[in-house]
Amino acid sequence: MSATVCRILLVGFMGSGKSSVGRVLAAALGWRFIDADQTLEDDLDTPIAALFQEHGEAFFREKERTTMAALLDEEGVVIATGGGWAAQPQWVDGLPPGTGTVWLQVTAVEAVGRVQAEPGKRPLLDSDEPVDTARKLVESRSPSYALAEWKVDTEGRSVEDVSARILEMFSGNDLILDAE
Ligand code: S3P
Repeated sequence: MSATVCRILLVGFMGSGKSSVGRVLAAALGWRFIDADQTLEDDLDTPIAALFQEHGEAFFREKERTTMAALLDEEGVVIATGGGWAAQPQWVDGLPPGTGTVWLQVTAVEAVGRVQAEPGKRPLLDSDEPVDTARKLVESRSPSYALAEWKVDTEGRSVEDVSARILEMFSGNDLILDAE
């Protein structure tokens, strides 16, 4: 039986390519791309690193929760979530109908390599041993990320390739992508 998807959520660890893939996927669908972290930063007019530093992680998580709750009303969108949002075990509960969820998988080593291109933007990896930190986080979060309906391994794959695989997965499983 076919089902209709009108919004796609990309979840996964920092550096898994949620924003880059989201942009390409949205363009391919003619949908809007929304970066949840960017939305939050624009709303508060403050970079995430500064929010962590000045108000702490709990404050950031609460803002992230309300930002995402508002974004889930949108249709015809691909949303790149922040890497911690889908780390809460109940994140799939109460998603509105028509939400397709995709976990972009990445190893800790690869993730740290990718985020090093943007220094100072990931406060949780701001440690002397970022790979160890990332490894522990990936391990503890993976059961929550795994609640996504679909998963794609991003290791060694280009952004375009990952986006194309997501489109193939959806069409191959009789999912109709419709922004209405
Ligand atoms: C976080 C991931 C970041 C950002 C914040 C916390 C996390 O987003 O939301 O630094 O807890 O994994 P990206 O996954 O886009 O890097």
